[in-house]
Amino acid sequence: MNTFKAKKFVPSILAILAAICITIFIIWAFSLHGTGGLFHVNGLFRLLFQILGCFGIALAIMGTGYLLFYSRLKRSAINILAALLITCSVPGLLVPTFAYLYTSGSFSGGIGDTSPQLLISDKCGCYGIPDLALTFNSAQASYNTLVWGTAENLVTIREDKALRQHIFIMSDLEPLTNYSYRVNDGIVYNFTTPSDTSLRIAIGSDAHFGAGDNRMDLTTAMLQIIAEPNNKFDYMFMLGDLIEYGFNANQWAEAFNTVSLTSSSIPIRYALGNHDSIFAGLNNYKNFASPKEINTVSGSQLWYRIDIGSIHFLFLDIEWSAESYTAAQAAWLESQLQEIPRNDWKIVLGHGYYFSSGATQTCRDWFDNLETITPLTPLFEKYGVDLVFSGHNHHMELLQNNGVTYVICGAFGGAHDHIRTYTSPTSLWYQQAQYGFVDVNIDSHQCSLFFRDSDNLILNTITIWK
Ligand SMILES: [Fe+2]
Ligand SMILES: [Fe+2]
Repeated sequence: MNTFKAKKFVPSILAILAAICITIFIIWAFSLHGTGGLFHVNGLFRLLFQILGCFGIALAIMGTGYLLFYSRLKRSAINILAALLITCSVPGLLVPTFAYLYTSGSFSGGIGDTSPQLLISDKCGCYGIPDLALTFNSAQASYNTLVWGTAENLVTIREDKALRQHIFIMSDLEPLTNYSYRVNDGIVYNFTTPSDTSLRIAIGSDAHFGAGDNRMDLTTAMLQIIAEPNNKFDYMFMLGDLIEYGFNANQWAEAFNTVSLTSSSIPIRYALGNHDSIFAGLNNYKNFASPKEINTVSGSQLWYRIDIGSIHFLFLDIEWSAESYTAAQAAWLESQLQEIPRNDWKIVLGHGYYFSSGATQTCRDWFDNLETITPLTPLFEKYGVDLVFSGHNHHMELLQNNGVTYVICGAFGGAHDHIRTYTSPTSLWYQQAQYGFVDVNIDSHQCSLFFRDSDNLILNTITIWK
């Protein structure tokens, strides 16, 4: 190629290639589950996307215009425009390429080895207790053997192919029974099943593993409190934003290896948060936190129901706001609420909040959210939902509206939200700059909630009756 042709085509081709790169990245990003919510709610990311999109359009116009009008330009103008196009094309090529590699998780590799944890299935065995899945991951594909059961009856399950993600189902568990399990020649773990009339659950949210400003020491302290056998917790629920960047497999590994302090002996169930699903995070959540093997009834890995006798837990996919509350999820929720007997306990859990006090952040009001209140709370009231737990807001709060009690417990380690500038008219109690979790005790017709701090001290309590 002679100098004339190089000066004519190289800057144009680079600019158009950069514009194509930006377009592909934006299309890819918006094809992902969580990006619509991210764009809708987060003003900073919305601005970055808009700048990137405008930059791509400018590059396409400049590259095409330069090519079309090249013969009419003076030599000095050609030199300036060629230098400008090449200079702008470099970030235009590098930024979307780097952004794709980073947000797709390519830099973080695989999840590696993780400690065992017990995940609660949505399927009940013949004694009315939910099945459990013993799960862990290995850096290399391997065959593993699980031995589990009671002292009188041990069962052996062997994997029949080499895998990196290991899932063993323990079914037909009997209530109030001590079980043990062991993987290969490893540690022997123990767990005890609950009765089907009384239950003690720890609920936390927003640990934000990997954030840098999260209090992992306090998250660990709370996990140890929940795992302490004398505290007699039956289950634990984590309501999302477990991870800062869900596309980063290293952060999932760090979270699971820490949470397994509890979840190796106290069965756990997760809800999906906006940070867990961000960019390519959804597949990590589905694979590691909510595999299809524990979602055989709802058919969804994002919303599910767990039943223990007359106590029913409905986990929803509410991430940023109501973007993830699809027509399919709405139809599922209403069908479940219709099906559950009126006098049974109905407890809804998910990440995003409804009524809440808070402050304005990133150009948005983080309090009473009409986008979730409008479609969902009438259903809660119509079908007699008793309790609604959520996180997302990084504080603790107790609220009541039209007979439904709302709890915000986004205090499991993520950095605190700003102090509220708005108080919800439904608010009964609010605690900011406090790490903690909620201790839920259900016994027949009575449910007592204890808001606990990271030292297990009680901050507030309320009892509701059916
Ligand atoms: Fe969060
Ligand atoms: Fe969140």
